[in-house]
Amino acid sequence: MQGSPEVCVLRLGHRPGRDNRMTTHVGLTARALGADRVVIAGNASKSKGTIEDITARFGGPFEVELSDSWRPLLRDWSGVVVHLTMYGERVQDVEEEIRAAHRADPVLVVVGSQKVPFDVYDAADYNVGVTNQPHSEVAGLAVFLDHLFDGRELDREWEGGESRVLPMETGKRVVPVEDLDGEE
Ligand SMILES: C[S@@+](CC[C@H](N)C(=O)[O-])C[C@H]1O[C@@H](n2cnc3c(N)ncnc32)[C@H](O)[C@@H]1O
Repeated sequence: MQGSPEVCVLRLGHRPGRDNRMTTHVGLTARALGADRVVIAGNASKSKGTIEDITARFGGPFEVELSDSWRPLLRDWSGVVVHLTMYGERVQDVEEEIRAAHRADPVLVVVGSQKVPFDVYDAADYNVGVTNQPHSEVAGLAVFLDHLFDGRELDREWEGGESRVLPMETGKRVVPVEDLDGEE
């Protein structure tokens, strides 16, 4: 998010076809809730296209990358590595420490799909549970990002894109960005 070190989400374990929708939602959630980039391990070109299309329509900045070899990214990350897992430390016990580190350093947030290889647990600076109950990578990511940014991501400013949604009590209003000149 503008004004803070990078937050990158690494999505592991994508199975083409079967995981397309979940992987797309990991990317859209990362974008909407303040991350700067998602790296998807594996052949997820369909998800990449959908996330890029949403960024083109509704703004960014937000980057999507596909990677066949995610281990170097994890190993060489010059910042904090957070792996989200139901087996991890409670988010409420470690969030302050992670927030403090993020004032100076980029954060890599790793989420899985099926079983995550054990070296990821070892490589992580923090294995973090959003509750210690099994649920979903999309839910875990959303709650973690909201805690990391302490809610500031909800006021994030968007750049570029074609349209903006105007919040309304009822109904739907989407306006071209050029009609908002001076109001953003
Ligand atoms: C279907 S779950 C797999 C559950 C897996 N046994 C695990 O290690 O959490 C897919 C992904 O969702 C995320 N996830 C599931 N439950 C979570 C929780 N309670 N806290 C944080 N992340 C969670 C993890 O990133 C996990 O890799």
